[in-house]
Amino acid sequence: MQDAQFDQARLAFREAVWAGLQQEPKRIPSKYLYDAQGMRWFEAITRLPEYYLTRAEVEILQRLPTLWPSHLPSPTAIAELGPGSGEKAVLLLRALPEVQAYIAVDIAAEALDAAVARVRQSGWAGLSYGQRGDWVHGFKWPALSASRRMVAFLGSSIGNFEPDEARAFLHRLRRHAESGELLLVGVDLVKDERLLWAAYNDPEGVTAGFNCNLLHRINRELDGNFAVDRFYHVAPFNAQASRVEMHLVSLCDQEVAVAGRRFSLRRGEQIVTEYSYKYTVEGFQALLADAGWKPAAVWHDHRGYFSLHLAASS
Ligand code: AVI
Repeated sequence: MQDAQFDQARLAFREAVWAGLQQEPKRIPSKYLYDAQGMRWFEAITRLPEYYLTRAEVEILQRLPTLWPSHLPSPTAIAELGPGSGEKAVLLLRALPEVQAYIAVDIAAEALDAAVARVRQSGWAGLSYGQRGDWVHGFKWPALSASRRMVAFLGSSIGNFEPDEARAFLHRLRRHAESGELLLVGVDLVKDERLLWAAYNDPEGVTAGFNCNLLHRINRELDGNFAVDRFYHVAPFNAQASRVEMHLVSLCDQEVAVAGRRFSLRRGEQIVTEYSYKYTVEGFQALLADAGWKPAAVWHDHRGYFSLHLAASS
C-alpha cells in the first residue's frame, strides 16, 4: 500500500474503533476482522467440520453444470467479489465453459493474487486478473465483444451486511448492471440453532482465534493495549433478528487504551464484532426483487443448509 493510502486506511480504522468503543453496546465493523492474519484464520474456519457453509456451497457449485437453466445462456465474463482462495472460482469456471474472462475483485491484494494464481494453476486458459477496489464501484469489465456478464458474490458474505445494507448493496449492483446481466449469490439459510451454534463456536477455538485477532490487530496497528486473554469469544444465535452475533466478552472490569484514548469495560460487557444473517429462500428472493433483480433459479445442497441464488437484471 502507498504511504498516503496506508495512513488514510489507518485513520479510518482508528475512527471506527474509537466510535465503536463508545457505542452501547460496543461494536467494531466486521470488515476489520479481515486483515491478512484474519483471512488466514477465516480460511482455517472454512475447513472446520462444524462450518458447513463452504462445503455446502462447493457441493452446489460442483453440480452447477447439471443445474444451470437451459433457457439462460452461459455468461462469458465473471467478476467475483471477495474471491477468497480462488477454490470456488475454479469450480465456477469449470461449470461454465463459455466464460472467457474472470476478474477477482477485492480490497486485499493478497487475496487477489492467491485467487488468480489458483485459477491459472487449474489450467483455465481464459483472461484472468485481479482488481483492487471497492466491490461495487472499483471494478471495470474487460472490453470483450458480445460479453454476457455475471457478478458472483459467494460464501454468504451477503449475510455479514445488515438487511438494509444488503438491499442497498444489491441495488447498487443492479444500477451498474447492463441488460441481461446475471448475479450469483451464496446465502446461508435459517436452520436448527444447534447447528449454527456449532458452526460459530467450534471446540478447537479457531473462530475464537479469528475473533480475537481483531484485538491483536488493534494492538498492532493502533497502538492498543488490549490484554486479549481478558476476553472470550461467544457467538449466539439471535432468533428474533435471524442472525449469529460474534461477541468478545470482557472477563473483568478493565480499562483499555487505543491510539491514546481510554475506554472502560465492565465484567460481562461485550464488543460486537460481526453479524451473520440467516435467510429463508423466500426472504432472500424478496430482498433480490426489492433491489430490482429478477430471481431466476435457486439451488440447495443435499441437506438444505445453504442456497445459491441466480438472478437476472431483466
Ligand atoms: C465471511 N462470512 C460469510 C463468514 C460467516 O459465516 O458469516 C464469517 C465468519 N465469522 C465467523 N465464522 C465465519
